[in-house]
Amino acid sequence: MSLLIVCASQEHGNTRKLADAMAKEVGGVVVAPAEATGERIAKHEAVAFGTGVRFGSPYPDLMAAVARLPRQDAKPAVVFSTSGFGWRGGHAALTRALRAKGFVVRDELACKGLDTVGPLKLFGGVNKGRPDAGELRAAAALARRLAPAGPATTVAAPSAGASAQPHA
Ligand SMILES: Cc1cc2nc3c(=O)[nH]c(=O)nc-3n(C[C@H](O)[C@H](O)[C@H](O)COP(=O)(O)O)c2cc1C
Repeated sequence: MSLLIVCASQEHGNTRKLADAMAKEVGGVVVAPAEATGERIAKHEAVAFGTGVRFGSPYPDLMAAVARLPRQDAKPAVVFSTSGFGWRGGHAALTRALRAKGFVVRDELACKGLDTVGPLKLFGGVNKGRPDAGELRAAAALARRLAPAGPATTVAAPSAGASAQPHA
């Protein structure tokens, strides 16, 4: 199953790290929200949407891109985000918008990301080193669950007329 990854990552590239881990795992393509047109989405069997969180909300350019999309016919999707708190609530508006558009959101992942908002900048921020290796593995697993037939896990279809053989 081919995976398109639409990623809005504007502060430190935190969310982009998750997107790249997903792409590497299943051979997916990462694009910016402006490139997520209806035509491009139609060429892929599943879509992952990722965002950083600003003042409790997903990034506006990603929300605007979703709003522009044509109605979807139950296209499989997942949502992922990074934020200071690493909470799903930060991307909840994105999940709601995707469901309203006709996507079937199968799974979600929220991770902590380096956060330098306001005075945190004076101390070099919080969540240094996040997302970490474990979170990148979680992102890769999320991609695998959504797009199980990608290059990393390709399963050959049985030829016509083949019968199931018991395992030795
Ligand atoms: C102006 C600003 C506002 C932010 N607001 C929130 C917030 O409301 N909740 C939160 O958990 N993190 C917040 N953050 C932290 C970011 O969500 C976090 O750094 C995220 O990983 C950035 O992702 P990106 O590097 O992919 O853009 C904020 C950061 C900035 C700079």
